[in-house]
Amino acid sequence: MASTSTPTFEEVRKEYDDQAPSYNSLLKLPFGIFESQLFESAVRRDLFCQGSTVLDLGGGTGLRARQALEAGAAKVDVVDISIEMMEVGMKDTAVLMGPNESAKIRWFLGDASKPLFGQGGIAELQASYDVVMANWIFDHVDSLSVLDAIWRNIAAALRPGGRFIGVRACDPRTQAMVTGKYGPTCQDFAEFHGGLYYSSTIPDDSGPPVQLKNASLKISYTGSSEMYERYGFHRVEIEPCENTKVVRDDPEYWKLWVEHPGFVIVRAWKK
Ligand SMILES: C[S@@+](CC[C@H](N)C(=O)[O-])C[C@H]1O[C@@H](n2cnc3c(N)ncnc32)[C@H](O)[C@@H]1O
Repeated sequence: MASTSTPTFEEVRKEYDDQAPSYNSLLKLPFGIFESQLFESAVRRDLFCQGSTVLDLGGGTGLRARQALEAGAAKVDVVDISIEMMEVGMKDTAVLMGPNESAKIRWFLGDASKPLFGQGGIAELQASYDVVMANWIFDHVDSLSVLDAIWRNIAAALRPGGRFIGVRACDPRTQAMVTGKYGPTCQDFAEFHGGLYYSSTIPDDSGPPVQLKNASLKISYTGSSEMYERYGFHRVEIEPCENTKVVRDDPEYWKLWVEHPGFVIVRAWKK
């Protein structure tokens, strides 16, 4: 399905709500295995999450919230626009982690591009987190003002010296994503001023694929450090692909990805 118009908040929310039960099919694909291993490396290295309070914006089914806990985080607050994604997350977490660990994750319905703190925000959230995660929420954004609003929340949420970690798409027209070699595909590209509309597909061997409408801004997918600098971050790092077992075990298979990846994991430190 061509994706040549602004994905509205309602459309994004509905797509995730409708397809939430299938979203974790990603985990069986090379892309998903690689992403989990890369994320694990990023949250464990330098004790990035050890003992920390974490805010997970667009936390979805809790895949990364659970990894943060496994990496030593003290608690994680997930904020997401999709109640169904979080329902999957709550059930999975209870089964996989048991009651004590599950209690360390709180789940909030909310939009990361709307003020989260203070009046009109989510009352239970305190703007003093050690770590803010934002994995894949920049790739439903087609306006700088919305991207700015998300970054304002990220910066406001963190204590001084706090840390950011986020997954963001690279250019979705890269061969690694167009060919489907690693599982998911991107297609239906249409440029707009400052960015790209497209759709993405996650194959699911037990049913219809997950299909999503995306929009990524050049300032995000080209790897510019402008937003980080604007919101007071220094030391911006990309997690090396070689930190995953899958890449070390089969560098030939992952060569296409390593040279032109479909996404990267960014870590940054607030001044
Ligand atoms: C691709 S999923 C990724 C989920 C999770 N972060 C992960 O990496 O497994 C994107 C998630 O972001 C949520 N999302 C998209 N835009 C959002 C926004 N503005 N505020 C909060 N959540 C948002 C969606 O509902 C969805 O659950």
